Amino acid sequence: MRVVVSEMAESVLDDMNKVRGIDKSGMLSFCVDMAEHYGRALEAAERVSLCFSVLENVVIAGMGGSAIGGELLKDLVREDARVPVEVSRAYSLPGYVDERSLVFVVSYSGETEETLSSFLDAVRRKCMVFCVSSGGRLLEFAERLGVPFLRVPSGFPPRAALPYLFTPLVVLSERLGVVSGVSEGFSEAMSVLGRVSGECAPEVPVSNNVAKGLAVGVNGSVPVVYGFGVFRGVAQRFKTQFNENAKIPSKWEFFSEVDHNEVVGWERAGSLAECFSAVFLRDKAEPVEFRNRIEITKGLMPAGSKVFEVRSQGEGVLARMLSAVCVGDFTSVYLALLRGVDPTPVDTISVLKARMKQSGTKEKVIRELERLAGSR
Ligand code: F6R
Repeated sequence: MRVVVSEMAESVLDDMNKVRGIDKSGMLSFCVDMAEHYGRALEAAERVSLCFSVLENVVIAGMGGSAIGGELLKDLVREDARVPVEVSRAYSLPGYVDERSLVFVVSYSGETEETLSSFLDAVRRKCMVFCVSSGGRLLEFAERLGVPFLRVPSGFPPRAALPYLFTPLVVLSERLGVVSGVSEGFSEAMSVLGRVSGECAPEVPVSNNVAKGLAVGVNGSVPVVYGFGVFRGVAQRFKTQFNENAKIPSKWEFFSEVDHNEVVGWERAGSLAECFSAVFLRDKAEPVEFRNRIEITKGLMPAGSKVFEVRSQGEGVLARMLSAVCVGDFTSVYLALLRGVDPTPVDTISVLKARMKQSGTKEKVIRELERLAGSR
């Protein structure tokens, strides 16, 4: 990745006083301490005792920062899962879901309308339900309805709580026989994350810092992040972190679908191409067919396109996935700082949730949950 580093970028990103001044709520600290959070999340997940009968499919119900852990799980287990694993971002669960389905209901706040509605749906369909949340109505009703749950630490922006929302999904999926031999990867992942967050730390100057360099490179453009295989959900994570931390539009796509439509979108983009930058996620273990596709696709992009690569680190699949997530998280925060934006608040989401509240849908779901809890 070659990036022209302006003095302006260095003066913002390498000046700790300026960094602290813009990152008022300390989003960077969640990136810096990522390995530690995975350690705590693993301990908490391993303490969960759970007893469900044989299951036929797994659905992770959640939205936004609470759903992305489900996407990572889906990619992680895709090749070895004994049953289908799907993410549901909706008010209701897919039609096939029944009492033989395991539904992980994940909402960091425990207050998300769609997720509460999916929880209601799961209880009504008598699914095997497990909730992951820091509290809210979700855990209130889980307790009253006798649904097992894991209460994760509060006080994080939901997207920064990814370690606590993703880790239990992996550990419990393994314990319930959905997949085997994946959670042992956390130990390597934590040591790799410790190294990557050290390399991307705020004290490391732009000239030596992959995340700062990428933030400088994509600044002023709409980043389009390209994943493949186990990096599909990682690409989505990059996109949502660019949205919520840096407050910019962003897009994500995955191979090899890219080569059947997206690639044509660049063909006659003309001056539109200048509005975008392309970020390719790369992996030393990428299968040769993906390696070829990525190289050919890059070669077909218009001359002068802003093209970047992010390379995963580590040996195991979990370490490689999470190392890329770590670089993306740091990059989105540095991009926010470059733009003079506090990464933490997501005012528009708060406004939207408040306006939606007036529609009465959430209250209706809560009344139904009340009725259900009262009748037990
Ligand atoms: C991430 C974020 C949102 C929420 C989403 C759902 O930081 O703010 O993407 O994750 O609105 O809310 P929760 O996670 O509380 O269910």
